[in-house]
Amino acid sequence: MSLEALDKALELELDALRVEGRAKPPERVIVGVIPPAGARGPRYRLKGSEREFIRMNSNSYLSLSLQPELIAAADEASRQFGVGPGAVRFIDGTFAPHAALEERVARFVGKPAAKIFNSAYTANCGLALTISSATTYWIGDQLNHNSIIRAMRIAGVPSANKAIYAHNDMAALARCLEAVPADMQRVVVIFDGIFSMRGDCAPVDQIVAIAGPCGGRFKEGVVTVMDDSHGIGAFGPRGRGTADHTGALPDIVIGTFGKAFGVNGGFIAASRMVVEAVRQKADTYIYTNPLSVADCAAALRAVDLCDGREGRSRLDHVQAMVVRFRRGIETMGWPSIPGPHPIVPLLVRDTPRTHALVQHLYNAGVLAVGLTYPVVPRGDETIRFQINAAHTEADIDHVLKALATFTG
Ligand SMILES: Cc1ncc(COP(=O)(O)O)c(C=O)c1O
Repeated sequence: MSLEALDKALELELDALRVEGRAKPPERVIVGVIPPAGARGPRYRLKGSEREFIRMNSNSYLSLSLQPELIAAADEASRQFGVGPGAVRFIDGTFAPHAALEERVARFVGKPAAKIFNSAYTANCGLALTISSATTYWIGDQLNHNSIIRAMRIAGVPSANKAIYAHNDMAALARCLEAVPADMQRVVVIFDGIFSMRGDCAPVDQIVAIAGPCGGRFKEGVVTVMDDSHGIGAFGPRGRGTADHTGALPDIVIGTFGKAFGVNGGFIAASRMVVEAVRQKADTYIYTNPLSVADCAAALRAVDLCDGREGRSRLDHVQAMVVRFRRGIETMGWPSIPGPHPIVPLLVRDTPRTHALVQHLYNAGVLAVGLTYPVVPRGDETIRFQINAAHTEADIDHVLKALATFTG
């Protein structure tokens, strides 16, 4: 037995990805974190480089992952319950920190109940497996995250049972709802709260207003589902995400503990019945060990922090840094997509130039992500900057200075 033949076949497939420009570069390895000092935020050391880098590509918007209270909570939970659950949830793998986190995050997003998952990715898959049926029709935004698209495939949603509306186009959403076949009994409108490549948000108030009145046409109604992975904790006046920002709460909210909360894991928050159905039907919940109690305890502490004075002050700081950064790139004449979210896209609109700018930033000690053709259409090439609560004014100015010296 040998993997020789399979290796050869896979090599050809990966070569094709490289030729198409879709292959991922080698992963950089972080080998050290240098704590903030004076006017400087944290810096990162990469394997094979002497340089210290500012991360402008982290989802950890509130910068909580090194927060001592979170680390202490994770340590304490591990000491009390052990580092692994020893079983899946329904075979006595449910520990007090799992239950506590579910209760806490449900309360945070304003829903009666929640179930936690290993990630938001598996939460999306779990939801689709739970609520899809032969007479369920799915309507989604064109720019929905890969995990939503993959979830529908895993749940076996046929193409006759789904429609896509142009990004944030409410007239197109209304047309999709109009066109739902009459034999459908349940309609799901599903969308990202924050679109991770652009930093813009879904007009949740309009989506809810458009979907609501259509409910009566279908036996099991029209359900709105928002994956607010980039919004939860990072957006809205109280950090409660895109619902907080738009003033409208969809029926089901999916989120992650792996971005603003700085830990790991995902959740579905909804009615008690939906959450019980998830527990009974979502394979990505049922047949896999849950998050460690360390993750749960740290995430619980993160939600508590976010929900209080500390969270508010971090959000205020992130906002101030977003404004400073946006003002800087505007002054230099770089176009962006406007918005208050800490994702700030810089529209370069050219693939070689984007690569050159990412490299220029790297040489100046700045880590940022370039989105180039064919991952995005020609003309939409972008560098995605992400501001977080650990960035200082000096850090933002350092990045702006690096941008100002780009001559490509
Ligand atoms: C909208 C959306 N959903 C889900 C995910 C995945 O989150 P997690 O890392 O918790 O699986 C992401 C992150 O990239 C995302 O942007």
